[in-house]
Amino acid sequence: MAIRKTSIKPSPFPEPKPPGLTVLILAAGVGKRMHSRASKLVHNLAGKPMVRYVVDAALAVGAQRVLVVVGSESEEVRQAVGTKDPKVSFCIQEQPLGTGHAVLSAEKTLKGVEDTLLILNGDLPSLRVETLHALLEFHRLHSVPLTLLTAVLEDPAAYGRIIRNYNSDVARIVEASDATPEEKQIQEINAGIYCVEMKHLFKNLLQASANNAQGEVYLTDLVEILKRNHQKVAAYRHPDSEEVMGVNNRRELARAGKRLYLRKARELMDSGVTLLDPECTYVEANVRVGRDTVLCPMTFLVGDTVLGESCWVGPGTRISNSVVGAESEILDHCVITQARLGKGVKVGPFAHLRPDTELAEGVRIGNFVEIKKTAIGRGSKANHLTYLGDSEIGEGVNIGAGTITCNYDGEKKHKTVVEDGVFVGSDSQLVAPVKVRKGSYVGAGSTITKEVPPYSLAIARGRQVVVKGWARKHRKKQH
Ligand code: UD1
Ligand code: CA
Repeated sequence: MAIRKTSIKPSPFPEPKPPGLTVLILAAGVGKRMHSRASKLVHNLAGKPMVRYVVDAALAVGAQRVLVVVGSESEEVRQAVGTKDPKVSFCIQEQPLGTGHAVLSAEKTLKGVEDTLLILNGDLPSLRVETLHALLEFHRLHSVPLTLLTAVLEDPAAYGRIIRNYNSDVARIVEASDATPEEKQIQEINAGIYCVEMKHLFKNLLQASANNAQGEVYLTDLVEILKRNHQKVAAYRHPDSEEVMGVNNRRELARAGKRLYLRKARELMDSGVTLLDPECTYVEANVRVGRDTVLCPMTFLVGDTVLGESCWVGPGTRISNSVVGAESEILDHCVITQARLGKGVKVGPFAHLRPDTELAEGVRIGNFVEIKKTAIGRGSKANHLTYLGDSEIGEGVNIGAGTITCNYDGEKKHKTVVEDGVFVGSDSQLVAPVKVRKGSYVGAGSTITKEVPPYSLAIARGRQVVVKGWARKHRKKQH
């Protein structure tokens, strides 16, 4: 059957454009319950500062603008936000006088904006973008001035409780510190995620007072104010309460961090990676791992690390911001930072690859070997107890046990070059700058200070002296 091409004509009644989306992130609080010198929002979980997760979710949901409310001394929070995305900007809350006050401090900056405003507490690192999409859709469907995201918690602890009226509409939110014992029994909580139409926000929120247990202006009072002014408030009840739990203390920080690592572990397993113990494997969000790779317990994969297919890693190994080629084996207790490893390399156990290490295909690095700013050619080996720094090692080279590049003269670093096919005998020192040319041998125990020409043997050690019968005489003298 022939397929007829149909051209899609523009509808004579174009759908009205939905209002734009601005996100406001509240990140100016003190976070007393963390007992930290730093703002709670800069604390790291699974590789990112807390506030960064919320900013990333805001950008991912498609906001035209993300405004972060920070305190007056907020350099650390600005840095933690750490994005150069022009959509992200800051406004200042001079004093942390409550979440409502934080929103009010953005009034000037948001003047004239008629968007839907998504307000997010800054302490929600597990929040997923899918959840924000669902909330926005719910909000648009109900076309109300305000939609809250709520969840049901077994132990609602310090969360604001959702008070519903006789026909189960949301009537107000009561903070735990202001709640009566009966209200405290309520398990539906306010998650600190709100969708509000700009035209209803400031004129209503300005009516909020600080007449409450904490002496703060609560954003949550907006619900009661809107209701008083005959406006509707909707609630989107999210089924996954863990995802919307705020982080207020170190216990919650640990719990949320664990949750994020587990989320990544599941993602990896679903894409064909084996984790021997997903509860004890710590892979950060940006890491990519090829299928059929096996990760042993206590493996940390950090930053922008990429692992190829069919690798073996760990146990107890940490790889940061590095690339590892397919079919490589990184054995127990290695630390690898900013390194590039080709296909089929073998590293460890107990090896330390520092920044600017480059290992070509099939290289073998054994136990107690440290490498820094060094490129090693195909198939070369340094199997035991070695330091290679600021050097260039060719292909098919054998670096004997205990070889050391003496790269530092106390002031400057110098380069060592070992060309293709060289054999460096055990316990040798290569005093840089120095070159060992193609195909040469360095005798064990040598201290090489001068260039070794191609295809030669260099021995630089004290000659052995043998005095026959010396020991027998020596012992007789002693008796
Ligand atoms: C808030 C809600 C509570 C909800 C809970 C969800 C209020 C009054 N209460 O309580 O109903 O159940 O979140 O996690 O909103 N912040 C500022 N400036 C301030 C105070 C806070 O920017 O003056 C920021 C904080 O940095 C934080 C967020 O607002 O990111 C929430 O503040 P937090 O103190 O954690 O509020 P909760 O007591 O958890
Ligand atoms: Ca909180």
